[in-house]
Amino acid sequence: MSEHIRIEQPAPGVLGITLDRPERKNAITAAMYRAMIDALRAGDADRDVRVLLVSGAGGSFTSGNDIGDFQKSQLEFPTPGIQFLQLLSTLRKPVVAAVEGHAVGIGTTMLLHCDIVYAAQTARFRLPFVNLALCPEGASTYLLPKVAGSKKAAQLLMLGDEFDSATAVNAGIATASVPAGQALATATECARTLATKAPRALQLTKMLLRRGDAEAIASTILVEADHFSQCRTSGEAREAFTAFFEKRAPDFSRTG
Ligand code: COA
Repeated sequence: MSEHIRIEQPAPGVLGITLDRPERKNAITAAMYRAMIDALRAGDADRDVRVLLVSGAGGSFTSGNDIGDFQKSQLEFPTPGIQFLQLLSTLRKPVVAAVEGHAVGIGTTMLLHCDIVYAAQTARFRLPFVNLALCPEGASTYLLPKVAGSKKAAQLLMLGDEFDSATAVNAGIATASVPAGQALATATECARTLATKAPRALQLTKMLLRRGDAEAIASTILVEADHFSQCRTSGEAREAFTAFFEKRAPDFSRTG
């Protein structure tokens, strides 16, 4: 349970999971990951649920992992965030996502595991791992080169610059760009339609679309997570997290 995760039924057969911590741009804490894991697991097992729908409240998708959580030294391994990605990447039922505003870090990498993603034209994506002295997670080093091409993946993951929804569509991160404010309505309509389709055929199609990559995704998530957990406690990461909260640029000239 987390007060910041809302579970609803926006349409028949659709389980809606909403990140609802707008004062932190829906930054995700360990408790929120655990609540999403419980909801996804229950939805995937419930025969009355046919489709899962993920969105963010207050005009943002999510600003990614709560950076304060990175500074807590005793996180379990795999972390709740990694457990969430492991589950998301192995669900049987289709997942539709609606992106408004910021989709940062895991806010972008989780989309690589969703089946259909609608992004507002005003949505902003960013993969800031290197800028935070971290390495990428969520099998993004495997999936992004596959969907975007290796040069585009390197640009997005190494420079960590913000990109728009047209770029996200071209890079294979989002399915389609929609007018601002329309991502959730479009995604809900898509989920409603999917929920009327033959459930076994739909789940079989998802399984067949993904089976070729399943092993590589599972192993890449773990390899990245191992490096990520070591990065998290490094001197350069300490500098990056401190700089974030002090609202200044990090200084890596004396680290490494
Ligand atoms: N973890 C913890 N706190 C966060 C956060 C995060 N990922 N993202 C935002 N916040 C906090 C901000 O520190 C701010 O707190 P304050 O009101 O005490 O100053 C509050 O949420 C609102 O965010 P703010 O930065 O003022 O909003 P914005 O609209 O100017 O910018 C973002 C939005 C998403 C561009 C910006 O917050 C950001 O870059 N966040 C960090 C993203 C990130 O690097 N995530 C980690 C990925 S691995």
